[in-house]
Amino acid sequence: MRQKLVIGNWKMNGNRAANTALLSGIVAGLNDFGAEAAVCVPAPYLAQCQAELSGTPVAWGAQDVSVHAGGAYTGEVSAAMLQDFGAKYVIVGHSERRAYHHESNELVAQKTLVALAAGLTPVVCVGELLAEREAGQTEEVICGQLQAVLDLIQPEQVANIVLAYEPVWAIGTGKTATPQIAQDAHRFLRDCVAKKNTAAAAGVQILYGGSMKPENARELMAQPDIDGGLIGGAALKSTDFLGIIQSV
Ligand code: G3H
Repeated sequence: MRQKLVIGNWKMNGNRAANTALLSGIVAGLNDFGAEAAVCVPAPYLAQCQAELSGTPVAWGAQDVSVHAGGAYTGEVSAAMLQDFGAKYVIVGHSERRAYHHESNELVAQKTLVALAAGLTPVVCVGELLAEREAGQTEEVICGQLQAVLDLIQPEQVANIVLAYEPVWAIGTGKTATPQIAQDAHRFLRDCVAKKNTAAAAGVQILYGGSMKPENARELMAQPDIDGGLIGGAALKSTDFLGIIQSV
């Protein structure tokens, strides 16, 4: 039985006062819902998470990581630095980084490897564009994104990654994938993982991301291969975020 996991991806939102209100609201409202909760925050707020979430059940993490271990890479944040702050998760390969920062499948795979080496749990995002779905290329695209990662990691490391299926056409658009569309993609991804490590594939958490909100979370997370959510907009209000966690 896989543990459900709900991660809030704050993207480039927040300030110290708003973060404190959001984090304390989440912590106060979090009961024994059976889902693990985490937030992935902008790098300057990792210290705030460390200070305000330590000792709570809410984990925290970052939204990106450098492939480099350290040195003259202005603006980059290393996996060791994230680990130093007690981060548990790091998102890699989010479609916004693929689109706006031209991150290739190979770079995302290298970031996954670097995160694993530092003891972080990479949340590897895959997902197709609307044009790719309409052209019948969904499986080819998400398989290619995933395969680059699987090619680089060791079979035993499969158990230490989290996957997120985020159809790009559903992100921030209010157009959620139907539970069946999402389930089909999740099942397909799990089958791809199984080719690398059959035993671990059954245990890998695969999160859905793309306009998930309290109103649609229950039906999505009831699907057999949907193990939680990677939440953008609805993670910025504690009541909405908690509403999703409560849907598990
Ligand atoms: O990482 C989160 C996803 O991009 C989903 O964002 O919930 O605002 O659609 P959204």
